[in-house]
Amino acid sequence: MTTYSSLPVPPMSIRFDPAGGTLQPEGPTLTRRMSDLEGLFRDHAAWEQAVADGDPVVYSVVSSRVPEVERELPQSITTIQPGSTAGELWMTKGHQHPNHQGEIYLGISGHGGLLMFNGTETEWVDMTPGTIGYMPPGWAHRSINVGDEPYSFLAVYPGGAGHDYGWVLEHGMGRRVLAGETGVEFVDYSAD
Ligand code: 6PG
Ligand code: NI
Repeated sequence: MTTYSSLPVPPMSIRFDPAGGTLQPEGPTLTRRMSDLEGLFRDHAAWEQAVADGDPVVYSVVSSRVPEVERELPQSITTIQPGSTAGELWMTKGHQHPNHQGEIYLGISGHGGLLMFNGTETEWVDMTPGTIGYMPPGWAHRSINVGDEPYSFLAVYPGGAGHDYGWVLEHGMGRRVLAGETGVEFVDYSAD
């Protein structure tokens, strides 16, 4: 037995409820409202208006009790509400893991997408219940709800990976995801 194996959480069973998008026992929950997504929507005025018009909850993240520390493997369930702002589908902020490490998502309910960007190339994984999306080390990632009901997915990631949100503000995500006439439409990140 290593000294580490007794710290800081014991072996445990964690149950997830696909209908409620919850983890039991539960850890911290994070709620991101429209005002938390400053600088991310391409139409700044529409974003400001949405903040003024009630500042809706865009997504929430519930975590298990496994902590975000080196060598642990935390999990969380993200639920993104359906919606769009000036045509841009509601999404997570997106981040890079500064200590480059891989991560997996498992689609639980609803219909979403996983947008990845490594600084030059973008990739898109269509996410439905049962799909595992894999993010290799060094690929920034953002999730988008492309359906008309809440989209939930389970994330499992190395606890020491860290979260860098400034990277996306500086480099973008390669593409933006819009609600098109016949489905999802992709445009260059910098296009108006
Ligand atoms: C992570 C996961 C995931 C993500 C949420 C919210 O690294 O923890 O990618 O749990 O954090 O889906 O997305 P943002 O962190 O980009 O707000
Ligand atoms: Ni991540």
